[in-house]
Amino acid sequence: MLSRIQVDTVVQAGAGKEAGLPDQLYTEQNAQIAKSREELFDSADIVMQVHGPGANAEAGKSDVALLKPGQVLIALLDPLNAVESTRELAETGVTAFAQEMVPRISRAQSMDALTSQATIVGVFVVGAGVAGLQAIATAHRLGAVVQGYDIRPAVKDQVESLGAKFVQLELDTGEAEATGGYAQAMGEEFYKRQRELLSNVVADSDVVITTAAVPGRKAPILITEEMVKAMNPGSVIVDVAAEGGGNCELTKPAETVEQYNVTIMGPTNLASSIPLHASQMYARNQLSFLRNIVKDGDLNLDMSDQITRDSLLTHNGEVVNNRVREMLGMSPLDDEAMKEGSES
Ligand code: NAI
Repeated sequence: MLSRIQVDTVVQAGAGKEAGLPDQLYTEQNAQIAKSREELFDSADIVMQVHGPGANAEAGKSDVALLKPGQVLIALLDPLNAVESTRELAETGVTAFAQEMVPRISRAQSMDALTSQATIVGVFVVGAGVAGLQAIATAHRLGAVVQGYDIRPAVKDQVESLGAKFVQLELDTGEAEATGGYAQAMGEEFYKRQRELLSNVVADSDVVITTAAVPGRKAPILITEEMVKAMNPGSVIVDVAAEGGGNCELTKPAETVEQYNVTIMGPTNLASSIPLHASQMYARNQLSFLRNIVKDGDLNLDMSDQITRDSLLTHNGEVVNNRVREMLGMSPLDDEAMKEGSES
């Protein structure tokens, strides 16, 4: 355990604003607030920064001129790349420590900023279908601590094989998987219980990526306004289900909004944001589909082929897809009728 140390802490006014941390949070912990950067540097015996004094983006100014001989500086100073700035620091007379140069030995583990910053982000992916599994793989590769969840129990192994932890909820998901690997629509009671159980995991995550969808239905609401309120300031929700209404109650499709210090992104039609590759991939799908229905230069509607049967919507003036017929309140066609339709 870290022992307490007796120091007076001064924080620059507005230092945490962009991260969603108001000054008041610092004063509640007995810190004093310095009105300006100059005042802060002037009052400090020890200056602790994230990046070094040369990296002060504010007004494009460097902090080097604010340093005083004898002052101690602790920061990520990038000394092996920014070699000249170390010479500059030495000339100010400060005692500078580079956090990156802390040795990677057991005793220094609690000081190891390189490790903490590389694994800082906790990402929670809700809905582990195609998009969700990609998000898990990417977040894991970027060094985040990733958790994944899906209503379909069969997904557990896939989530774990990508290096993420599968979040298990105490819910009866026996009926959750429909044919074709898609999720089944569940009752409102089920979703309510699901939201309750998801609350803690959502609150503990820095980034929540939601992709949960049910074909033919509005996306289920899995994150309520209350749950957003309980998230840490500066957290982010990327609601990939925005096109279907969104998995978060506060999502605005095609917009990025900030609510309760949480950024909520509702991207729609993501494919069009990378049009070249999206077109190439879609064209390949279409070509492959065409190959399946054209034989010797003629259209060949083989209704015994599952791909043709499932994707054919209309033929000879009739809606021939039974899923769509049901939604339109039409009686289903039997196999014989569909076969005849295809031959006429
Ligand atoms: P999707 O976009 O319809 O839904 C995304 C995910 O959300 C699904 O995994 C679904 O189970 C999940 N979900 C729905 N309601 C949820 C809830 N209340 N809580 C948590 N998660 C919820 O699904 P997608 O990505 O299109 O994949 C559907 C299936 O199709 C998968 O089983 C996938 O493996 C399969 N697939 C097969 C392909 C092939 O063989 N050609 C190609 C692509 C996908």
